[in-house]
Formats: sequence, structure tokens, C-alpha cells
Amino acid sequence: MKVLVIGGGGREHALAWKLAQSPEAHEVFVAPGNAGTASEPKLINVPLAADDIDSLLEFVQIEKVDLTVVGPEDPLAAGIVDRFEDVGCRILGPRSNAAQLESSKGFCKDFMQRHNIPTANYRRFDNLNAARDYLSDHPLPVVIKADGLAAGKGVIIAATREQAEDALVGMLRDARFQDAGKSVVVEEYLEGQEASFICLVDGTDVVPLATSQDHKARDDGGTGPNTGGMGAYSPTPLITEILHERVMREIIRPTIEGMATEGEIYRGFLYAGLMIDASGNPRVLEYNCRFGDPETQPILMRLETDFLALCLAATEGRLASQSPQWDPRPALGVVLAIREYPASYPKGVSILGLEGAEGDADVKVFHAGTAQEGENTVTNGGRVLCVCALGNSLATAQSRAYQAVDVIEFEGMFCRRDIGGSAIT
Ligand code: AMP
Ligand code: GLY
Repeated sequence: MKVLVIGGGGREHALAWKLAQSPEAHEVFVAPGNAGTASEPKLINVPLAADDIDSLLEFVQIEKVDLTVVGPEDPLAAGIVDRFEDVGCRILGPRSNAAQLESSKGFCKDFMQRHNIPTANYRRFDNLNAARDYLSDHPLPVVIKADGLAAGKGVIIAATREQAEDALVGMLRDARFQDAGKSVVVEEYLEGQEASFICLVDGTDVVPLATSQDHKARDDGGTGPNTGGMGAYSPTPLITEILHERVMREIIRPTIEGMATEGEIYRGFLYAGLMIDASGNPRVLEYNCRFGDPETQPILMRLETDFLALCLAATEGRLASQSPQWDPRPALGVVLAIREYPASYPKGVSILGLEGAEGDADVKVFHAGTAQEGENTVTNGGRVLCVCALGNSLATAQSRAYQAVDVIEFEGMFCRRDIGGSAIT
């Protein structure tokens, strides 16, 4: 079979690497891919951008690609699945209407309210003065979210009224997030611990994947600016068996059934970002219509089942018969970023030590923002690599991942030193 993975980050390196392990996979194309995908057996980079839907469609038709798997959210929101399915090309992901669960926070909140799915209380605004009035006596902190996709930057947790005012003015008056911020969600601040609950859905049936936990803040101890994710591990001890059952019953199944009753069949990865409060109650912070980055990397390190077969089953409505097997050992991934991330950063810095970092099959360096320049692998993004390891305990996975991290070097290299720390202590 020929497979195409769309995207070029760490998530896509892991997706393509795992798909290629299937004996059925003969070629796995990655568009556009990175230096890591360029160097894997069976993987072939294709120089097409993830949002160039016309060219991607032409490519799969010429190459007779059997399955396309979409990594990032933008092409999903832009309707890549609609375009492919309408001409009979098999693709895994939600159609654009269903992808609104991620592409419109207001849609998502209204949907959860209609279906009694637990989430923070909220109001939607597109008028600055109305939003100001509402905020004037709202308890602090308060959370202000741009409605549309804003590359993870559209969520402001305002600790003071000035910060809240600044966020509202930035979005509703000054178009700080262009159209994405023309409408906002103002919501209650939730206390607790976060977990990532990612499932594969075929429209009706759901296969929950291994649980995980991301670290969104840039700096140790959960401080510093919000990022796309600085490291993750799987599973998370936060999601006990009882809580898992509750999340499936109170959140995941009502979401899929709710979409179906509203005429939007949900197919693809569904990622619930959860906040678990001190009493163990789960609430949805957000939905993503895709796998998480960097959660994908440690989760797929643990998957023992044929991932290609699982993805095909999802596109064919056959998930009821699937129960993936997981390596019982935890996996942990540390993101190596450029010091300036998430602000703008230099590119083209040489990366050293990659060959020495992967000692055995339990350690894997997934590439994110990398490119090949002749003999050199160089940086090409803010998040550069995700160094993952399996271990008999989370502590062992952590120490093996950091051992591999310490072999790698590039100018301005930066990582958190406490990934997994709170679950270990
Ligand atoms: P989102 O993109 O909606 O997941 O928001 C990004 C991050 O902001 C989340 O991972 C949380 O850390 C934080 N966040 C979002 N909504 C809330 C909320 N209602 N209460 C507390 N933290 C939140
Ligand atoms: N790691 C968070 C995300 O993928 O949105």
C-alpha cells in the first residue's frame, strides 16, 4: 500500500514511522516532512505544503495513494477531507464541519452545552463593549479565547482586569489574530491537572488510545509562556481506570453521538484536552481534531498493534472489532527547542550528535523543525526534536530520554528538565 502523511513536524515523523512498520506499507510519503522523515526506511518526502490541498490531491491521484493521514489542523479546517472524499480518495480525518470542534471554540462550547458535556462556563462575544460589561465583575483569573485557529496562541489567561481588557481589545478591535479573533469565548478559569485523552473514531465506534500528558508551559515548573508542548509522557497516572470509564461515558461517547445526531459524522482522531479537578471530575478544556504534538511521539512508541490496519479500520467503520495492544512500559518525550521559542527564532543552525543519541530500539529521536543541508542536519523551526524513550518505570524512561538529550547539541538548544517530574514524585 501507498500512504501519505500530511505535515512536517514531530507528530508527523512519529505517524509516518509507525505507519511504515506495517508489513502492508510499501511507501509512506510525507508532505512536506523534515530531515528525520527523509532518512527513515520506506519514507519519502514530497515537497508539498500541508495546506496546498489542490497539489496534495493531484499527488494522491497520480501516485494512486491508498490512504492519506492528516497531521495538522489547518488542512482539516480548510476541508481537505471533504475534497478528497468527494472524489473517492481515502483519507483519515473529520470533514470541515466536524472539524469545527477545533476550528471554532464558540462552536465547540455551544456543542458541549447542547449535549451536557462537562466544560467551563462561558459566554461568546463579538462586540467589545458587551464583552467589557460582562468582564467587569467576572472573577479572576478569567480565560479569553480567540474563536478561530491561532496556532496555539489564542488563549489568554488574564490574572488582572488590565490583562483581560488588553486581550479583548487585541482580539475584537485590533485584529491581533485576524479573523480568528473577531469573535471570542470568555470562560471560567478551571483549577486542576491536565491530561490528553486521544481517541480514534470511525463515525460510530471509538478506540481510546493510550492516555498522555503534555507540558504546555515553556519553562520548568510549568512557568513561562504557553507553547505547543515541551514534552509528554504516556500513560498518565491521572487517568485511573474509573476515570477512564467516566471520560468515555460522559465526554467521548456523547460527543460522537452528538455529532452524529447533528448530521456530522465524526471520523478521525479526536483529542480531548481535559482538566481534572481536585475531586477527580473531568472537564473538557478544548477539543482537537487531530493527534497531539508531542503526545503522538510517546504514545506511538508504545503501540504494538499495526497502526496502518487501525487507521484503515477507522476509515471503513470497522473500529468495533479493534483493540490495540500497548507496550505496558511508559514512554516519555522531551522537546528540544531553540532558546527563543515560542517567539521568533533563527533557522539553519547545525545539529550535532544525532547518530549517537539513539542507542537501541527503546530510544527514538523524532524530528520536528529540521531540514537537511548537504551533509548537515539543521534547525528549521522553533521545536526542533522530540527525544523519546521507553522504560520499565516513568523514572527510567525519563532518565533514558535525558541521557539521549545530553548527546545532542546545537547552538541555542533549550529544553525543560522536568518532563514527567510531577508524575514521578
Ligand atoms: P486550549 O488551546 O483551549 O487548550 O488552551 C490552551 C491552554 O490554556 C490549556 O492547555 C490550558 O492549560 C489553558 N486553559 C484553557 N482553558 C482554560 C480554563 N478554562 N481554565 C484554565 N486553564 C485553561
Ligand atoms: N500538545 C498539544 C497539542 O497538540 O495541541
